Amino acid sequence: MSNNLKAKIVALANQKGGVGKTTTALNLAAALALKGKKVLLVDSDPQGNASSGVGVYQSDGATQLYHCFMGEQETENCIHPCAIKTLNVLPSSIDLVGVEIELISLKDREKKLRQVLRPVRDRYHFIIIDCPPSLGLLTINALTAADSVLIPMQCEYFALEGLAQLIETIRKVKKNLNPGLYIDGLLLTMYDRRNRLTHQVASEVKNHFGKQVFNTVIPRNVRLSESPSYGQTILEYDRNCPGAKAYIKLGNEFLRRS
Ligand SMILES: Nc1ncnc2c1ncn2[C@@H]1O[C@H](COP(=O)(O)OP(=O)(O)OP(=O)(O)O)[C@@H](O)[C@H]1O
Ligand SMILES: [Mg+2]
Repeated sequence: MSNNLKAKIVALANQKGGVGKTTTALNLAAALALKGKKVLLVDSDPQGNASSGVGVYQSDGATQLYHCFMGEQETENCIHPCAIKTLNVLPSSIDLVGVEIELISLKDREKKLRQVLRPVRDRYHFIIIDCPPSLGLLTINALTAADSVLIPMQCEYFALEGLAQLIETIRKVKKNLNPGLYIDGLLLTMYDRRNRLTHQVASEVKNHFGKQVFNTVIPRNVRLSESPSYGQTILEYDRNCPGAKAYIKLGNEFLRRS
């Protein structure tokens, strides 16, 4: 494997459910990989949607993130290939639910994922972590392991609700566990340009967060919701649809900012 790499580690976090974390993790990872970057997608959500979204399904006993957390497997033994050559995945399954409980009594329980990723960091340009919809230990571990956070948010009425709590959590992690952590950006997802509310929410978010908001917005596009059931990212499923174009654009903007 190549040397001199040190992956930038990015956590996709928002404790609100269904805002596009997984869709963004998958498709941003694919967009970066198709630009020739070596990317590791880490599925840190017991729902396992990021894993199945790239066609990695957990058969019984297959190595996965849970085994790394528990110290039962070396990280490299839990990394799986997928259809895009420069994209690897560290998958999860429902077993990961147990980690939240099993970690509680451990010393340095917030730093476990950082330790898990350390041995493979020099093999990738980017490590993208998909978080579950909570601010529990799995998300705290992701924020502690990460260099930066990308916050997807849906353009809907309650989008800003909960954001204060997320930002406070990021601030606490930065203060106590990971001083270098910063917010990479807020990403508006499921954007519907014909909907007035979308415009209202978008301008409110931009007033509040200014340059931290990505210029790229992700449109509502049914192709994006179809592709995971085929185990394909949008760039494999339908490279010319509006959703694919948006994630390619996001990848470019992300690279310019990084
Ligand atoms: N831009 C989009 N256009 C249409 N559908 C989308 C879009 N983004 C996401 N979806 C769909 O919305 C649902 C929620 O998206 P996703 O799973 O990415 O959110 P999430 O934040 O990861 O959810 P959870 O909090 O449950 O992990 C999924 O069915 C997904 O396919
Ligand atoms: Mg998800």
